[in-house]
Amino acid sequence: MNTQFIKIESPEETEKLKAAGKVLRAGGLCAIPTETVYGLAANALDGEAVQKIFEAKGRPQDNPLIVHISCMEELPPLVREIPQAAIALAEAYWPGPLTIILPKADCIPEAVTCGHPTVAIRMPSHPIANAIIRTAGVPLAAPSANLSGKPSPTTAQHVLHDLDGRVDMIVDGGECAVGVESTVITLCGEKPRLLRPGGITWEQLSAVLGEVEVDKAVFHALDKGEKPASPGMKYQHYSPDADVLLIKGSRQAMASYAQNYDTQSTAVVCFDGEETLFPHKTYTIGAPQDGSAHAHAIFGVLRQADADGFQTVLIHHPPRDGVDMAVLNRLLRAAAFQVVEV
Ligand code: TXA
Ligand code: MG
Repeated sequence: MNTQFIKIESPEETEKLKAAGKVLRAGGLCAIPTETVYGLAANALDGEAVQKIFEAKGRPQDNPLIVHISCMEELPPLVREIPQAAIALAEAYWPGPLTIILPKADCIPEAVTCGHPTVAIRMPSHPIANAIIRTAGVPLAAPSANLSGKPSPTTAQHVLHDLDGRVDMIVDGGECAVGVESTVITLCGEKPRLLRPGGITWEQLSAVLGEVEVDKAVFHALDKGEKPASPGMKYQHYSPDADVLLIKGSRQAMASYAQNYDTQSTAVVCFDGEETLFPHKTYTIGAPQDGSAHAHAIFGVLRQADADGFQTVLIHHPPRDGVDMAVLNRLLRAAAFQVVEV
């Protein structure tokens, strides 16, 4: 298939928005920019259109999708109930990088939820994403617009690299601000539970809801046969072709450990100011405590290390709190949970 690539810089470009809306309403696939990562969108109410997403990405059939809306009025038809906690979270953090799991309404096709009685809903804050949802006139099911297993795309060029010829349209809306996927919280259990950390932090969720549990799968590999609350957490994810190792310890300890690795095949991902400690090619991702900078940079750096041909990537283990919880969650998966304490 011939993939159309269009650049939309403002929500005033109505003709281009209409072109994207037309593709979506006709049951096609359109990659769209959001503030987190690029999404691969289809009409969420059209099971056949949604099915194409799984084929284009090579996504496992049991991993459900997030449904994107543009305003609060679009929420009630999609869910069976809206608990007070959802209203409080929406008021605080929507539009923005937060996905809320709620009991699903009958209009949501099986293809979206993969048989779960719940549906994941998010209202993105990116003005182009919002305008495309409004122009399409339907809620949009959209996973990250990468080939399944690869680092999520934070530029339209990343999407083109993975999905050229596999989707109808790619909308280039510039670089994603947050850089990692949305926070996923479920309100369908006894207590609110964080299933995937993201741009809205556990601390921010707790400020609104009080106690918020952190699902075991956020920091730990699941045991064989163990069923995850969020199916996405069981897959090896976000992995570049290179082998990734997370190195936990001081910058000096990491620098001496890195001497075991040759500079030809190994690159280092570290914080600003650490690059001079390594004879290797380094990619810096921001000041040591700047979680937002780490999130913004990390997927692009993983892709760049592959493009530069490195076989091994040593990454300085980020902190566990704030937005870094999301960065650590993704890096643990990219590293297949290989952490070296030095
Ligand atoms: O920022 C984001 O969330 C991006 C942009 C495009 O909005 N989307 C995204 O989608 O990251 P995806 O498909 O890559 O991740 C969706 C996650 C998966 O881990 C999936 O298992 C989980 O949400 N999920 C979706 N529906 C669920 C449900 N009903 N119950 C539990 N987890 C669910
Ligand atoms: Mg994804």
